[in-house]
Amino acid sequence: MKDSMRIQLLMMPALAVVSAALLIVSPRANAQQPPPQQPKPADQRPSSYIFPVTVEPFDVVRARDKEAKPRVMAEHQKLLDERYDLRRHVDENVHMTRGKPIPVGPTAKIKNGLTFEQVSKMSPDEIREKGVFPYLPLPHIEHMVGGMVFPQTQIKAQPRLERFDMDFDLPDWFLPEFPPAMFLTTRKDLGDVSRGQLITLTNFFELFNGILNPKQLEGLRLLLTQFPQQQFNATDDRKTERADGMIGVACFDCHVNGHTSGATHQVGDIRPQANRRRIDTTSLRGVNIQRLFGSQRALKSVEDFTEFEQRAAYFDGDPVIATKKGVNILERGSQVHFMAEMQEILDFPPAPKLDILGRLDHSKATESEVRGEALFFGKANCAACHPAPFYTDNLMHDLAVERFFKPHMEGGMMMTAQGPIKTFPLRGIKESPPYLHDGRLLTLEDTVEFFNLIQQLGLTQAEKGDLVAFLRVL
Ligand code: HEC
Ligand code: HEC
Repeated sequence: MKDSMRIQLLMMPALAVVSAALLIVSPRANAQQPPPQQPKPADQRPSSYIFPVTVEPFDVVRARDKEAKPRVMAEHQKLLDERYDLRRHVDENVHMTRGKPIPVGPTAKIKNGLTFEQVSKMSPDEIREKGVFPYLPLPHIEHMVGGMVFPQTQIKAQPRLERFDMDFDLPDWFLPEFPPAMFLTTRKDLGDVSRGQLITLTNFFELFNGILNPKQLEGLRLLLTQFPQQQFNATDDRKTERADGMIGVACFDCHVNGHTSGATHQVGDIRPQANRRRIDTTSLRGVNIQRLFGSQRALKSVEDFTEFEQRAAYFDGDPVIATKKGVNILERGSQVHFMAEMQEILDFPPAPKLDILGRLDHSKATESEVRGEALFFGKANCAACHPAPFYTDNLMHDLAVERFFKPHMEGGMMMTAQGPIKTFPLRGIKESPPYLHDGRLLTLEDTVEFFNLIQQLGLTQAEKGDLVAFLRVL
């Protein structure tokens, strides 16, 4: 008998005495312990894990995916057409920084030919019973597959981001301009430091040498470098057929020029797949004044989120698959910090009508904007969660949107309670459609209609117009 085992056996009576003594001291604590969790048999619910070995060869999977793609796209298009009027309707007089006109709504269609006016007079119960809530959660293009999908305009400039199994779904006029402007808190005097270009690994040095410090330059280089990801990697389980796509993706592929291209994804930390949420890429402008990162995850620093993105979000929150596909472990002190420091100097776009408290300068504002501000801080109560100067309270709120619909499956997604979500800042908001964590609100008019219902505000048509006018100047 090995020595260690003998010692263990010898100790057993001693341990029994100790536990008996504990039982006598606090018998109730022991009695209250719940029975041990019995694992359910595997066939009762889907596993959290993906099988790491691909059963079929890449060519077979690709051929089937390509064959199915028109059907997948048509089915999703049908869902979008039922929910939205997707025609191009923009305000040519109101631009994003580099000149793209902003989309105008509301775009949502309401069932049974009802108007927003009529629905806003109904109670949440009535809206739920009649099934007429116009802003249900938005499913991913193919919800059961998911993953990163890049807008078509972006793919024209960066063909390596194309997938063979699906295309992006929303028309270009509902997306941020591409490429967007980039502003630095450290060099406000320079205005748009991207100089109208898409910042890449090949031009960043020329653009930023002499403007950033060497640490920030290295951080930017890493933010522009491709690393393996779930759909873009070299294994047989991938959704790219291009050699340059197999290298992976860069942070700034989605957060283009530190803003967003509108690329979409699914949140990694929910199971099963049908309950995962579509997520619209957030802008990194203004992360310096924020305290929570991720719509639902609420990580507490840009450093943490930077590490988390490549280790977990890139691989659907599955470290087993990450190991197979090539996870890139960033070094905290010399890489994560540099990347975070670069992100922390990305500024919101200028808002010339706001004063140093972030409030409207009435000498520069129109009457409609002034009325909109009064509503925002008054009757509409938006400021309770979106206070000036950056129009976020840096908290999460549960808007309890599930009051308005019954749980059901739609587009492969479970429409159900979504819980607390981060209050996104509204500074520069006209430059980052579509809105909400999943992008279900295509225009600012839709966000006003949404909150008018959610908060049961009873706003008039004129009041809604004034609120939109105010949101446009933030
Ligand atoms: C699919 C394209 C995509 C890529 C590539 C990507 N992100 Fe993100 N990023 C997102 C999305 C989507 C969110 C919103 C997450 C959520 O809502 O939970 C996000 C959120 C963030 C946030 C939090 C922002 C906030 O306001 O809460 C940070 C910081 C961030 N990303 C940094 C990075 C870094 C650093 C990289 C590279 C390591 C990266 N991202 C790569 C899509 C992407
Ligand atoms: C109870 C807190 C609360 C109130 C009140 C509130 N909001 Fe929000 N707002 C949020 C939260 C939380 C989100 C993110 C929700 C999500 O993504 O699902 C949000 C998101 C938004 C967005 C989209 C931001 C983005 O980047 O996608 C806009 C625009 C907005 N709110 C405007 C308003 C307006 C206008 C009002 C008043 C009519 C208002 N909010 C009232 C908490 C609130």
